[in-house]
Amino acid sequence: MTDQVKITQSGGVMEICWNRPDKKNALSQAMYSAANDALLKASADPSVRCVLLCSEGDAFTAGNDIADFAKANASTDHGPRDSSSYIRTIAAFDKPLVAGVPGLAIGVGMTMLFHCDLVFVAEDAKLSMPFVNLALVPEAASSITVPARVGYARAFAMFAMGEAVTGKQAEEWGIANKALPAAEAIPAARAAAERLAKQPLGAVMATKKLMREAERYAKQIDIEMECFGAQLKSAEAAEAFAAFAQKRKPDFTRVS
Ligand code: COA
Repeated sequence: MTDQVKITQSGGVMEICWNRPDKKNALSQAMYSAANDALLKASADPSVRCVLLCSEGDAFTAGNDIADFAKANASTDHGPRDSSSYIRTIAAFDKPLVAGVPGLAIGVGMTMLFHCDLVFVAEDAKLSMPFVNLALVPEAASSITVPARVGYARAFAMFAMGEAVTGKQAEEWGIANKALPAAEAIPAARAAAERLAKQPLGAVMATKKLMREAERYAKQIDIEMECFGAQLKSAEAAEAFAAFAQKRKPDFTRVS
């Protein structure tokens, strides 16, 4: 058990709330594991009719904990497993998923939003997927979900050059339903989740299934994970993780 994720249920809505604000809610393996267990429980439990993803503090999440990436870079095993399980589960999740994003959403913090059915975001939030800045590659099926949603050119600029979008742009590009003042993002998401929980669940789930390509996502996640795993072990990734820990800019020209 970890207190870095708060899981609660009120009526038909389960809330999964990232709770590591001092680290901008960077996701530890324990957090992925707790969230994965909660999603599996939500799927199996008939009393849960909708899940809300939200956060404590000013950030949604700064993405995977980079210290865990660094550990995986230095070790000979396969790398973090809890994050892989969470990504597979959220990409296949069958009940409605709503996100309330009060600020920063980086890396998996942004790619998971493409598996949510409704997204409410702070208008001044910064959303980014700087995988290549860390010498990594897209994950969570984002190599297909993001270009499908926003177009290839925008997706490539975000992946390969770390370009960020604001909450306002996220609304304009169809990533979010609504951009709001920061304090209103989670309450608006919660209100939408409560409304969704009152809809006929069978029809909501069937609609979600018709609109999503869960099998294609699962196959792409396997392909991405192989590539991600190889990059995670690379010398250029070691330089990126060391630079983050030392609070300096990486110098990839030093790495062959
Ligand atoms: N992994 C591990 N720790 C992280 C983190 C991450 N992804 N993101 C933030 N933190 C930690 C910082 O190291 C810092 O810890 P410290 O107080 O012990 O030094 C703390 O959270 C606060 O972050 P800080 O950098 O001081 O805040 P900031 O407002 O100046 O910048 C970010 C916030 C999120 C923009 C910056 O921390 C950042 O770029 N993080 C990395 C994001 C990233 O690349 N994620 C992975 C994408 S694949």
